[in-house]
Amino acid sequence: MDSLVHNQDLRRHNSFGFAACAANFMRVETLEQLQGAVAQARHNSWPVLVLGGGSNLVLREQIPGLVIQMAIGGRRVESVSEDKVRVTLGAGEIWHQSLEWMLEQGYYGLENLALIPGTVGAAPIQNIGAYGVELEQRFDSLLALDTDSGDLRRFNRDDCRFGYRDSCFKSHEPGRYVILEVSFALSLIPNLVLRYQALADELKARGIEQPQPSDVFDVVCAIRQQKLPDPAELGNAGSFFKNPLVSADRYRDLLQQFPNLVAYPADDAYKLAAGWLIEQCGWKGRCIGAVGVYSRQALVLVNQGSGTATELMLLAGQVVDSVQLRFGVVLEMEPRLYPA
Ligand code: EPU
Repeated sequence: MDSLVHNQDLRRHNSFGFAACAANFMRVETLEQLQGAVAQARHNSWPVLVLGGGSNLVLREQIPGLVIQMAIGGRRVESVSEDKVRVTLGAGEIWHQSLEWMLEQGYYGLENLALIPGTVGAAPIQNIGAYGVELEQRFDSLLALDTDSGDLRRFNRDDCRFGYRDSCFKSHEPGRYVILEVSFALSLIPNLVLRYQALADELKARGIEQPQPSDVFDVVCAIRQQKLPDPAELGNAGSFFKNPLVSADRYRDLLQQFPNLVAYPADDAYKLAAGWLIEQCGWKGRCIGAVGVYSRQALVLVNQGSGTATELMLLAGQVVDSVQLRFGVVLEMEPRLYPA
């Protein structure tokens, strides 16, 4: 396999900017190259990590086995019927650029997910979501390589077992399937989701009364740029913890103790704003060495340059402990730690 690289520095391949070293590394642009890489790994009994943009990942210093950089591209329209369009994108396409393209073509429905870092293939793994829209709502199906059998398998929405920042690719059989392409069910007529308060407020502040999809796209970009650090400037992986779900009873107990508690109803339970819990524990803007809690959004942990995954996990552990001590709620990490 000619494009196999040994001891590849992965600093530019993970949005935290950690200086991880991959024992073996290969970039794949075709299915055949991917199959070759998987066969090589199997032959050597190497564990495999498939990297997209590395934007939901905490990489330890030494990465054994093989790291495959997914770079299979492609954009195509599968079908158009009345006001619906089905669009397929290669797993290696950059998420935000794909959304810009959709907007130019007049394919609507994903505007609220603008500026999320990473690739198309990574998006279903954690069922990305923002500002009132989750990927599963616009998802049609995906094609993946089963690394156990070597077969290609199509997954429809139910097969993926989507949940809040979760799917079968993350929780049930992590690493078994490599996503090759993702198909989205979009609309040819604007279908705006404006219920997220910050979104509605910003549109109002701009004097936009009848927003177009491009307005929503622009406003989401502006809100994200204001609240979330740009990984090119300050290493991060977006929200580091999930917003914890608690029962309605537990929510009422907490609200009695903490009248300013920020929470949102979610089915018959409540989702607590983890950023608020962390801020209340005094972590917002605090640094330990080169890692810290972002000053404008306490749910985001950052690497100021020379930090390591070990330092970050220590900080995360302290944050989890103090939130548990104060609120009795256990925060769950959102990005993947590799090796676990
Ligand atoms: N808050 C604080 N202090 C903070 C941060 C937040 O008090 O430091 C409170 C505020 O009341 C704020 C509320 O928490 O209004 C919610 O904050 P925000 O709107 O920033 O959203 P979030 O719940 O912190 C989630 C997603 C984000 C997504 C936004 C917008 C998760 C884990 N995170 O964050 O997704 O962009 O909503 O929809 O669900 C990501 O997953 O990486 C991510 C960035």
